[in-house]
Amino acid sequence: MNRRLKRIKSEIEILGDKSISHRALMIASISKGITKISNFLFSHDSISTLNCLKNLGVKIEVNKENVLVYGNGLYSFKFYDGVLDARNSGTTMRLLSGILSGYKFKSIIDGDISLRKRPMDRIIKPLSLMGANIFAKNSERFAPIYIEGNDLKSICYKMEVDSAQVKSSILFAGLYADSVTKIFENIKTRDHTERMLKYFGSNISFEDGVICIEKGELIASDIFIPGDISSASFFMVLAAGIDGSEVLIKNVGINETRTGIIDVLKCMGVNVELLNVRENCYEKMCDIKVYGTSRLRPISISGDIIPRLIDEIPIICVLCSLVNGESSIEDVEELRYKESDRITSIVKEFRKLNIDICETKNGIRIHGGRKIKGAKVNSYNDHRIAMSLTILAYLSGEDIVIENKDCVDISFPMFYEKLNEIFK
Ligand code: S3P
Repeated sequence: MNRRLKRIKSEIEILGDKSISHRALMIASISKGITKISNFLFSHDSISTLNCLKNLGVKIEVNKENVLVYGNGLYSFKFYDGVLDARNSGTTMRLLSGILSGYKFKSIIDGDISLRKRPMDRIIKPLSLMGANIFAKNSERFAPIYIEGNDLKSICYKMEVDSAQVKSSILFAGLYADSVTKIFENIKTRDHTERMLKYFGSNISFEDGVICIEKGELIASDIFIPGDISSASFFMVLAAGIDGSEVLIKNVGINETRTGIIDVLKCMGVNVELLNVRENCYEKMCDIKVYGTSRLRPISISGDIIPRLIDEIPIICVLCSLVNGESSIEDVEELRYKESDRITSIVKEFRKLNIDICETKNGIRIHGGRKIKGAKVNSYNDHRIAMSLTILAYLSGEDIVIENKDCVDISFPMFYEKLNEIFK
């Protein structure tokens, strides 16, 4: 890399984890008692979950320091005579469908244009096998989703896609089923649901790719949400790409199903230190220190590591495009079903910036090191694309104008403020 950027020395704290925030609200809502959630992420997506739960009759109190959820047990939701709006949030739609499959009233869940394009047959199939009446309005695959729950039967289910959202949806339905529900994973995906259900006293076991869950009341338990490693990854890459920089990111969740980004950075030659490692509510967290270098290496990733960094692919592509040599990212077909088709979004927009990048059948190849040229690019209203392009603008020092950049609020409302804080 051949750029002269002002090195950064900074310490920052990022916001709470999005995946864990959704789960904390949902699990607390069906537990018995009052749960205090600290460091909850107030982003568009997690607020969608909060609003859906309120519509279903759950009392939730939002305070300055925490969120209080007044849970009333597994069967406490009330019929909502309207459409539950998941907006942009796949996690809200898929996980909530699992819970609603255990309720014998009718529910409709819908979302925005992006969510209406994302496949829902992946949850409809297992939830139907469990006995729920659930179908999607558009081509039996896309939202809105109609659900009328039932007395559910337990199932043994071999995962067809490596998806934590699908797994969690089945686990939630498993809380309402007549016997032990068993899930077999091909590749381990994030296990926040399993850990949190255990923390709330569920009969759950998870080991060697097999997860078993049984019906049983959950007990309210106060919970602290660690910082989101997916949000941290933008600052990790920013620091990594500027020689001589040192950035300390405080209180980040480092659940092993999420730390692929750390492995990738290390493989590319970045010094990353995990300091003050501790565990809270069955989730590991630490402070992450990243040291920038000018001696980065290209990378090839595929297979088992992919679910551990699925949301970090756009920002990994940013670093790859600045490093001399060919990087390849394979087995990422799932990126086509995210908030945008991320393979296409990345390739199309990076090309506008003179980056040598192409689509492969299930991946992306980048020949990094070519001079980046400023241009107008689009985020496709995809928060992770907007944040990745922003970091690319900083690291290339080029004038990159990003359209629809406010969508960062979906997962990281303070993103631009935090960035300004670093460069102050
Ligand atoms: C999530 C799981 C992942 C991830 C998404 C959040 C979750 O999707 O991409 O941003 O909270 O369970 P998959 O369901 O494809 O694993």
